Amino acid sequence: MKNLLVFLSACTFLLLSGCSSRASRLPNSGNNVDSHLRSNCFPALGFQPPLSTPPDSALDTWWCDPADEHAFMGFSYEVTACQSPAQLIREFLDIRDHFHGRYVRLLQLSDDIVDAAWISGLGVHALIWFGFDGDDIWIGRRDTLLAALHANPRAKFITRVLQFGSEPLFDNVLPVNQLTAQVEMAKANLSSLGIPVTVSELAFGYQERAGSQALLDALDSINIHMLPFFSQQASIANDSWPIVLNDLDWFIDHGNGKKMYFDENGWPSVTSEGVQPNSPLAVADIQNEHDYYVLLDQHCEDLKAVVGGGIGWFAHIYSDDQEPGYGIYNEWGSLKFPFHPRTSC
Ligand SMILES: *[C@@H]1O[C@H](CO)[C@@H](O)[C@H](O)[C@H]1NC(C)=O
Ligand SMILES: *[C@@H]1O[C@H](CO)[C@@H](O)[C@H](O)[C@H]1NC(C)=O
Repeated sequence: MKNLLVFLSACTFLLLSGCSSRASRLPNSGNNVDSHLRSNCFPALGFQPPLSTPPDSALDTWWCDPADEHAFMGFSYEVTACQSPAQLIREFLDIRDHFHGRYVRLLQLSDDIVDAAWISGLGVHALIWFGFDGDDIWIGRRDTLLAALHANPRAKFITRVLQFGSEPLFDNVLPVNQLTAQVEMAKANLSSLGIPVTVSELAFGYQERAGSQALLDALDSINIHMLPFFSQQASIANDSWPIVLNDLDWFIDHGNGKKMYFDENGWPSVTSEGVQPNSPLAVADIQNEHDYYVLLDQHCEDLKAVVGGGIGWFAHIYSDDQEPGYGIYNEWGSLKFPFHPRTSC
């Protein structure tokens, strides 16, 4: 099972100040979406943030109701390459306009990312990254991220949730009671900004630990790693729905009705050192990467029926540049397969 872990390349993590040049403001993009998806809440498709930062009082009516959010939400997106502001804006607008994404899940937040999210109209799931080494680097990242959420006046308007991750339980970074205390601390720290807090984790991470119910109870939403390729029952993606349901049902049983997301979610097109199956029948190829997302799209109504307003799912990840084999784009920037999942059903 240890192979399960290494989903994110363990490259040097850049501090908030690492990419310091500022984005210049682009004209509004013409969002071209179906009128039934238009709405006056952030980050509904068709809603464009105003040019100037709203007053704090606008937060009360700013966000879309999570209970209305289901189906395809957006992408995980890795920023360790220190993308230029222009590239961030270009790719965030691609997520918004081409794929009709509403959110981007990031391992980091910087002023450039806040600007690019604002310009493109994307909400952010921001992660305090724990890495894989079981060291204390995450503590500095936590403090930097919390401080940035307070310091940038727009951060609270684009940050939908703060996540502890990835897989701090599965990776044995912190005992479950200490992680629960961290979640409580972050919730108190961010309460004045209205930013909820969660943990980004596999079902197995909770299942194998006594005391994890107290952690689930502390979370504002449940942000699930759904990676059926690593199941001991895995074969082809078309046959993975029972594996998905197995984990999902566990979270339904233990989640007390909370909103749930599949936030690290996908099927790899290749194996690599850190991406090895636990079933001899598991197939990693582009067909199966594609089939997995088609499967989720075909089960849109089933996922919508889940407690809390239905499952919203992210595709992991935007580009093979960010994690080999998981990209929707290959490393040359071409789409690996057609990708047009529904954003509601
Ligand atoms: C939140 O945490 C940051 C980083 O530790 C700290 O600088 C800030 O003062 C805290 N704010 C509140 C309101 O607790
Ligand atoms: C998965 O099912 C789809 C039809 O929904 C089919 O086109 C595709 O070839 C199947 N994939 C595999 C690997 O059998």
